[in-house]
Amino acid sequence: MTRKIVAGNWKMNLNYSEAKTLLKDLMAQKEQFNADVELIICPPAPYLSAFAEVLKDQEWVQLGSQNNFFLDHGAYTGEVSPTQLKSLGVKYGIVGHSERRDNFNEDYSMLSKKVKALLKNDITPIFCCGEQLQVRDSNVYKEFIMKQIHDSLFKLKPEEISKIIIAYEPIWAIGTGKTASSEQAQEIHHLIRSRIASQYDEKVANKVGILYGGSCNAENAKELFSQADIDGGLIGGASLKADSFLTIANAFE
Ligand code: PGA
Repeated sequence: MTRKIVAGNWKMNLNYSEAKTLLKDLMAQKEQFNADVELIICPPAPYLSAFAEVLKDQEWVQLGSQNNFFLDHGAYTGEVSPTQLKSLGVKYGIVGHSERRDNFNEDYSMLSKKVKALLKNDITPIFCCGEQLQVRDSNVYKEFIMKQIHDSLFKLKPEEISKIIIAYEPIWAIGTGKTASSEQAQEIHHLIRSRIASQYDEKVANKVGILYGGSCNAENAKELFSQADIDGGLIGGASLKADSFLTIANAFE
């Protein structure tokens, strides 16, 4: 294991008052979070500004965005630019979540531009990849996942890809309560790391954080995080309760 990272993806959940309560609940337990873990919360975009104010001088947790446009400014109604996110103090950004690939047709080349735009603004991309159930069943899942990574990330320079976090999120496990087994997850994480090592080198591969996502929860996080190439988790549903998020963040051996 190289890094220890736990990120909460709140998705389009919680109204503002509920979101503030969750932030307050997390803050009430801040001393209990393992200080060795890079802890990230990704609330809905409209809340980022107020959260950034509250978390201004705090080191124990960082803010992440769930999505960003690939240009810094201009006539793009409704979009949020990486420069704007940077100006709020956002340090991480989820890119290419399967829900965005599916619902908003985000393709490989758009995702590669989004990743570059974040890096240019000193925001760490959390790049998501993962296969649908039929791809897993048809046994071409390794090629499928590696193509997602190859096409969007492998044109980056070594010093750029070293900064990236990759989240392996099998789509059949997202929000379904059906977690990948630790062996299934480790197989893919190991494959991703070895492919980065052959494309770049081992030093680069060991710097890239590789997270598991997909029904990771307080019960299964320990087993998943004990695998050699699993550096932590991207957590959806279980990040919406302070207690389960704390248990997951502290699940490293
Ligand atoms: P889940 O979502 O933990 O609710 O399965 C994970 C994700 O989609 O990032």
